Amino acid sequence: MTVELERLLRSQGFGSRAECRALICSGRVLTNGVACDDPYVEFEPEGFQFTVDDVPWKYRKHAYIALHKPADFECSHKPRFHPSVYTLLPRPLVTRGVQAIGRLDEDTTGLLLMSDDGQFIHQCTSPKKLVPKVYEVTTKHTIDDAQISALRQGVLLNDEASPVAAAACERVSDHLLRLTVTEGKYHQVKRMVAAASNRVVALHRVAIGGFALPASLKPGEWMWLEEKDLAGLAERNPAA
Ligand code: URA
Repeated sequence: MTVELERLLRSQGFGSRAECRALICSGRVLTNGVACDDPYVEFEPEGFQFTVDDVPWKYRKHAYIALHKPADFECSHKPRFHPSVYTLLPRPLVTRGVQAIGRLDEDTTGLLLMSDDGQFIHQCTSPKKLVPKVYEVTTKHTIDDAQISALRQGVLLNDEASPVAAAACERVSDHLLRLTVTEGKYHQVKRMVAAASNRVVALHRVAIGGFALPASLKPGEWMWLEEKDLAGLAERNPAA
């Protein structure tokens, strides 16, 4: 089913219908390399490509994003001490309602997934789905065998009725752990490591499900997740 250009742009986060109409009428929207100043011309959404102010876009029913979160950014729309991660995204993504899937602390870096697909967000965050999240954890004190075994067997956190165990935990070096958790409890990794008698000094998320943060994605950068990435995410075995 074809859709008017004005409605297409609205669905992609370019503002109200009136704002999209104004954008189109001012000649800032190109389709097939040519300015299209008729807001009512119709296009097939699937595969539709266009530019706005020379920035290329492709129609997407939903947005699925991976952001490399830098330190000193907050995962909130109303940050208190640092800028919001949403300032790292182009305006249309925020306007169309892209949300962080879970939160990373302001000092945590690494992979943050974002989407405007409520069902997808629910699947990624539901405790029942047990999606593994893999962290590189730099610790203050030397990591010993007792700490590894406590993290593997389960540690009791304040306000929790039963112990929380790492799905996987290995020592990479004296002060570096690779830790996988399937829950998303508040400050979970920091609290687990503290409960195992050590302390987190840096935390970096390297993978969620089978999707690993690409080395090419630098802090502050974001990328679209394509079908293959989403399929990788659904895999239960995170990249080693
Ligand atoms: N666990 C934490 O303690 N902090 C994070 O940001 C993520 C997981």
